[in-house]
Amino acid sequence: MKKYIFDWKEKKSFKSASKQLEKKYDIESKEYDKIGLNPKNSWYEEMVLAPKEFIKLINPKKNEKILYCACGTGRISIELAKKGAKVYAFDISKGMLNKLKENLRDKSFKKNVIEIKKASLEEIPYKDDSFDKVVCRGTLDCFHPKHYLKFIKEMKRVLKPNGYLIIDLPWPQGKLGKISYNSKKCWSIVEIKKRFKEVGLILKKKNDVGTCHQLRFERLK
Ligand SMILES: C[S@@+](CC[C@H](N)C(=O)[O-])C[C@H]1O[C@@H](n2cnc3c(N)ncnc32)[C@H](O)[C@@H]1O
Repeated sequence: MKKYIFDWKEKKSFKSASKQLEKKYDIESKEYDKIGLNPKNSWYEEMVLAPKEFIKLINPKKNEKILYCACGTGRISIELAKKGAKVYAFDISKGMLNKLKENLRDKSFKKNVIEIKKASLEEIPYKDDSFDKVVCRGTLDCFHPKHYLKFIKEMKRVLKPNGYLIIDLPWPQGKLGKISYNSKKCWSIVEIKKRFKEVGLILKKKNDVGTCHQLRFERLK
C-alpha cells in the first residue's frame, strides 16, 4: 500500500495538519477499506471493532438528520443510512469521497445519503442548528487539542439544541495517544469534560474502545 508519512513538525497549525491529511488520504484512499480487516492485524480493533461500537453509541434513528464530519470512505455513514437516518457527509479528501461514492453504487439505502461534500472541519458548510446528531471518528487525534477545539465549536454550531455530538478522542496511554501528534498533549477525561462544558457541550456517555474514548455530548439549549 502506498503510504504518506507525516512531517509532524510541519503540523504546527490546523491548516498545515489538514493540508497534510488531505494529501495522505488522497494517496491512501484506494486501500483504506482493507486496513485491519484480518483479526490478527494490529489495526483490527481500531478499524473493525471500534467502528461497530461507535455506531451503537450514535444509535441512529429513522429520518434523523446526521452529519458525518470527515466521513472518509463512508464505512460508518453507510451503516447509518442503512438504519434509515438521513446522512450528510463531508471530507477534505477528494480521494476518500470518490471511494465513498464507489461504495454507495447501486445500493437501496443510497437515497438516505442526502449530500456528500468536499469541505473542511474548519468551516462546516451548513447553517446553525441543522442536525439531530453530528459525528466524527478517527480524525481529531491528528490535531492538537487547542486546534480541534475550534472544530468542536463548528460542530456544535450546526447541531440542534438538545442534539448530540458523538466523537472519539485518544488517551495518552493508548496506541493512538502514543503515536499521534497529541502524545504528550492528550487531554485527560477531566480536562475534556471541563473544556467541552465551556463551549456548551455536556458529556453524557463514555465508552473506552480500542485506543480511544468514544464520547457522547449533549448540546445545551
Ligand atoms: C482516519 S480517516 C477516518 C475516516 C472515517 N471517519 C472512518 O472512521 O473510517 C481520517 C479522515 O479525516 C479526513 N480529514 C482530515 N482532516 C480533515 C479536515 N480538516 N476536514 C475534513 N476532513 C478531514 C481525512 O481526509 C480522512 O478521510
